[in-house]
Amino acid sequence: MPSFRVETPGGCYSAIVERGILAQTAQHVPRHGGKVFVVTTEDVWRHQGGALARGLVGVAHEALYLPGGEEQKRFGPLERLAEEMVARGADRSSTVIAFGGGIVTDMAGFLAAIFMRGIPVLQVPTTLLAQVDAAIGGKTGVNLARGKNLIGSFHQPLAVLIDPDTLATLPAREYRAGLWEIVKAGVIREAGLFRFLAKHREDVLARRPDAVDRIIADAVRMKAEVVSADEREGDVRRMLNFGHTFGHALEAETGYTRFLHGEAVAWGMRAAVHLAQTTGHLSAEDAVDVLEMLRLYGPIPPLDGIAPAHLLARLVHDKKTVQGRVHFVLPVRIGEVTVAAGVDDQLVLASIRSALS
Ligand code: GLY
Repeated sequence: MPSFRVETPGGCYSAIVERGILAQTAQHVPRHGGKVFVVTTEDVWRHQGGALARGLVGVAHEALYLPGGEEQKRFGPLERLAEEMVARGADRSSTVIAFGGGIVTDMAGFLAAIFMRGIPVLQVPTTLLAQVDAAIGGKTGVNLARGKNLIGSFHQPLAVLIDPDTLATLPAREYRAGLWEIVKAGVIREAGLFRFLAKHREDVLARRPDAVDRIIADAVRMKAEVVSADEREGDVRRMLNFGHTFGHALEAETGYTRFLHGEAVAWGMRAAVHLAQTTGHLSAEDAVDVLEMLRLYGPIPPLDGIAPAHLLARLVHDKKTVQGRVHFVLPVRIGEVTVAAGVDDQLVLASIRSALS
């Protein structure tokens, strides 16, 4: 049972990767706590709710539903859920179980962060993307029309229960979108994982358990280490934003409806590789290797009809933009990145054009 400790000022907990761990969910719910609310979507509940309910035998719980889709990751649905919790008797001793993909884990985590000024949340992610990234590290929040995750809070969970068995019902597109975050982990800090992904593409795409469990564990270990070193993203945690600066711009530009988050990140990684090469941070050989990896796990859905200049303008609204200076995470070799600010707009625009071509 690989279990990785996250040790932060905001909370210490384990991210456990284990097939069947859903059956032990009750052990991670506070013993003498109040009402337990499972925040999920109807879709996730239909496919995986039975397994979670079996893991919660003896723990009274009620399901609350969020609408699915990144465009619904807004304040409105959270307010409705908070009202529903109060109507059902929630109080400061209540616990939220976030049960779903990254949109659910972000929103349910944020609901827990602000409900009565903060109640505990247990993260139980059911998509690959949420298992390796979104549910770990305490970032919670919702989008604004002008930008991704612009409202939010750090709220570390009680634990993160990662059951790769839940991936059996995940649609192929969602699975692939999660793989981009694992590719990201390889590029930024895990050269061994990068090599494994290059060598075992078929096993990974066929969801062979050994391969899937290995890549999840590597990515979760990496994320636990990085978050433990820098909870509030003042330093090394910034590396996790590789591909995200462009990716967030792309999601906002398309109204959060056209690309899954992981797909937008894949485009973002392409752009960042072009920029890293143009600015002399990355060798041509390593650039080819990363671009080849993106091709191996592609195709990424096409970008037709999106104006590079609009994406450039959107970058300014990213959270990582400080006083108008956009910060880019750029690879310097496989397994290492740097953060660059003050890059010339024309170079950025040229890189976006190359990435999109
Ligand atoms: N998803 C990026 C982070 O957790 O910092």
